[in-house]
This record gives sequence, structure tokens and C-alpha cells, in this order.
Amino acid sequence: MDDNKLVQIASEARQGAYAPYSGFRVGSALLCEDGRVFSGANVENAVYGLSICAERVAITKAVSEGYRRFEALAIIAGGPAPCPPCGACRQFLAEFGPETTVIMVNIEGQVKRAKIKDLLPDAFTSDQLFGGKG
Ligand code: THU
Repeated sequence: MDDNKLVQIASEARQGAYAPYSGFRVGSALLCEDGRVFSGANVENAVYGLSICAERVAITKAVSEGYRRFEALAIIAGGPAPCPPCGACRQFLAEFGPETTVIMVNIEGQVKRAKIKDLLPDAFTSDQLFGGKG
């Protein structure tokens, strides 16, 4: 699937954002190795800290359905620059491998691409937990 199609799915998912507190609506679309796509939007809460980003919604949907291998994650929002994933979402995505491409977009059509290993160098992974001496 090409980047444009994945971004279009993220853009449609953005319509589902629940963001009454920030007003900042984000959409995401996660492309799995077999071509399946899971989308997400941010969901906020009156207890602000419980809010969840669009990226983690898409990732949790995919993982909870048995998917673990991801080609690309598209993110779109209305900011002045292509929407970068927050630190928590970088860590969340890095769990499933260093090679996933992150496609960052804003609604004006500016695009940036980077691999998760470059967005989160030296990520903490399960290698640290299970590859050492405890
Ligand atoms: N947000 C996302 O969904 N993804 C990002 O990459 C950045 C921030 C959400 C969280 C919150 O609902 C709103 O945007 C403002 O931070």
C-alpha cells in the first residue's frame, strides 16, 4: 500500500477523535506486514492524564487482534508541521521492532518519514530484560 492511501485512512480515522479538552484531533493508520490496516484517533478524558494518543489506539487494536509485525504507521493532525509521535508512542511502537516507518503528516499536506529506530535511538526493549543477568 502506498503512503498516500495510508495517510487517507489516517485522515478518515481523525474524524473519530474525541478531543473536547485540547481540540487537537489526531488520526493514525497502522499498516501490518500482511496488508491489514488498523486505524485510531485520540481519545481524551476529563481526567486529562488518561487521554490516549491516536497511535496507541491503532497499535493496541492491532496487537489485541494478534498482529505484531508492522510496516508503517501514518499520523495526521492539524499542527504547523508534520505530526511527530510523542515519546510514549515511540516507545510503544519500538516494542514491535526498529524498522517500522513512521509517516508524519499535517492537514496542509507536509510529510516527513522516519524509521522508529531513528525517532527513538537506544530504545529500551525486551533484550534488556531477558538478555542480561537480571
Ligand atoms: N496526540 C496524539 O494523539 N498523537 C500525537 O502524536 C500527539 C498528541 C493527542 C493527545 C491529546 O489528545 C492531544 O493530541 C493533545 O496533546
